[in-house]
Amino acid sequence: MKAIEEETDTEMEQKESRLSPPPPHVLIFPLPLQGPVNSLLKLAELLCIGGLHVTFLVTDHINRRNSKIHSHFSRYPGFYLDTISDGLPEDHPRTADTFMEIFDSLENTTKPLFKEMLRRKSTDDYEHVRPPVNCVIGDGILGFTIEVARELGIPIICTRTISPCFLWLVFCLPKLFEAGELPFDDDDLDVPIKSVPGMEGFLRRRDLPSFCRAGDLTDPNLRLYLSEINLSPRADGLILNSFEELEGPLLSHIRTLCPNLYTIGPLHAHLNYKLSTETSSRSSNFRDEEDRSCLSWLNAQPEKSVIYVSFGSIVVLTIEQMTEFRQGLVNSGHRFLWVIRDDAITGGGGGGWLREEKSSRGYIVGWAPQEEVLSHPSVGGFLTHSGWNSTLESIYEGKPMLCWPYFVDQQLNSRFVGEVWKLGLDMKDTRDRFQVEKMVREIMSDKFNRCSDQMARLARQSIEEDGSSSRDLNRLIQDIKAMTINHN
Ligand code: UDX
Repeated sequence: MKAIEEETDTEMEQKESRLSPPPPHVLIFPLPLQGPVNSLLKLAELLCIGGLHVTFLVTDHINRRNSKIHSHFSRYPGFYLDTISDGLPEDHPRTADTFMEIFDSLENTTKPLFKEMLRRKSTDDYEHVRPPVNCVIGDGILGFTIEVARELGIPIICTRTISPCFLWLVFCLPKLFEAGELPFDDDDLDVPIKSVPGMEGFLRRRDLPSFCRAGDLTDPNLRLYLSEINLSPRADGLILNSFEELEGPLLSHIRTLCPNLYTIGPLHAHLNYKLSTETSSRSSNFRDEEDRSCLSWLNAQPEKSVIYVSFGSIVVLTIEQMTEFRQGLVNSGHRFLWVIRDDAITGGGGGGWLREEKSSRGYIVGWAPQEEVLSHPSVGGFLTHSGWNSTLESIYEGKPMLCWPYFVDQQLNSRFVGEVWKLGLDMKDTRDRFQVEKMVREIMSDKFNRCSDQMARLARQSIEEDGSSSRDLNRLIQDIKAMTINHN
C-alpha cells in the first residue's frame, strides 16, 4: 500500500502507457504508379491530421522519383516512409505498355516481402520505436494486401484510386458474360451494352476498358480485374476518391456489394481544405522533375486562353500520335501548355523534338505542378487522358475537358464526362489533327462553362464542414480508431 502511495508521476505515466492500447497505426500500400501514389499520399496526410500514425509503403522506384515526400511529411511525427522492392530491374520502363509485367512482379516478388514486413510491423515490440501496425489500407487491385492482412488477423480497408463508375463496371463483368455481351469479336464498337445497372442507355462497347476489346477470356488484364470482384467485398471497408453528388446512383449500386463505403474525394481538394483551416499551407507535389517555369508563362497569358495538355504519368504515345496532336493544337489557334514526360514516347524518348514550341503559342514541360496549373485563371480547358485524378482535379477547378482515353478506367471516365456529366467532349478512338483542331476550339468556347461551374460548386461543398465527403472522412477516422482498439 505504502509503495503505491509513493509512486511518482513518471512511474504512473509509464504504467498507464503500458496498460493503454497502442495508438492507431495504419499501413498504406498504394499501387506503385504515380497517380495512385499521389492520391494516397493525400489520404495519408488527412489521416495524420486526424491524429493517426501512418506508415506509407512505396516501391524503391517510386521512392527514387519522389524524394520530397520525406521533407514534406517531417511535420507529422507519426508519419513513417518505408520502401519495398517491386522486383523489376531499375531500368524497366514501368509505363502503361508494360502494365502486366508490373503486376506479375508485384505478385511474385513483393507479396512475400510484404507478408514478412507486415508480420514484423504488427508485433508489439516492432523496432521499439514505432507503435505496431494495427490496420492496413491497401489498393484493391493488389489483392494480396487483403489476403496477407486477413491471414495475419489485421483489419484491412481497401481503397481504389480509379473511378467508382469503373469499379462498378468491373463488378458487373460476370453479368456481361452471362448476357453474351462479352466477349465480342466483330468490329462494331457502337453496339449498346445493356447489362450494367445504372449505365443502360449510354454505355457502348467502345466505352468498356480496352482489355474487353481483346475478345479473349484469358486476357491477363481481364483476369486481374475479375479477381478483384471476390476480394474487395471481403475487406472491412472501401475508400473511394469521389463525392456523393457526382456519382450517387452508382455508389448505391457499389454499396450492395461493399456496404461500408467511405467516399471522401476529391482527395487533393479535401486535403487543401483541411490544411487551409489548420495551417494555411497547401498540399504538395512530390515528383522531382516538376518544372514550375510554366506558372510564370501562364501568368503572362490572357484569362481562359490556354488549353492544358497532359496524358498523366504512364501513358505512352507514338511519334505519329504526338504529331497529330501537335498539328491539331497549333491549327486551333489556341495557346497550349503541354506536359511531355521524358518517357512519353513509345520505345523511349520525350518532347525534345517539340521544345521550340516555347517560342510560339505553346509551352512544353517534362512535368507540371498540375493542381496549380488547373487552378490558374489563364487555363480554359484540359486535353486529358481521363485518368481519374486528372478528371477530379479538373472537375474541382471547373475546367472543361477534352478526353483522349488510353486504358483501364479512362474509356469509361471519358464517356461520363461527355455524355453523363456534360463537362466536356469525348474524342476516344479519333486522333487526326482535324478532329483535334475542331474539338479544341469547341472545348475552349464557353459551351461547357455552366455545367462545369455547377459541378465544381458541388465538389467544393462536399469537402466543407458537414459536406458528404467531410462526414465520411470523420467516420473513417473514428472507425479506424475503433477497429484498432478491438484488434489490440
Ligand atoms: C493511373 C491511370 O492512368 C488512371 O486511369 C487511373 O485512374 C489512376 O492511375 P495516371 O495515368 O497517372 O494514373 O493518371 P491520373 O490518375 O490522372 O494521375 C496523374 C497525377 O499526376 C495527377 O494527380 C496529376 O495532378 C499529376 N500530374 C500529372 C502532375 O502533377 N504533373 C504532370 O505534369 C502530370
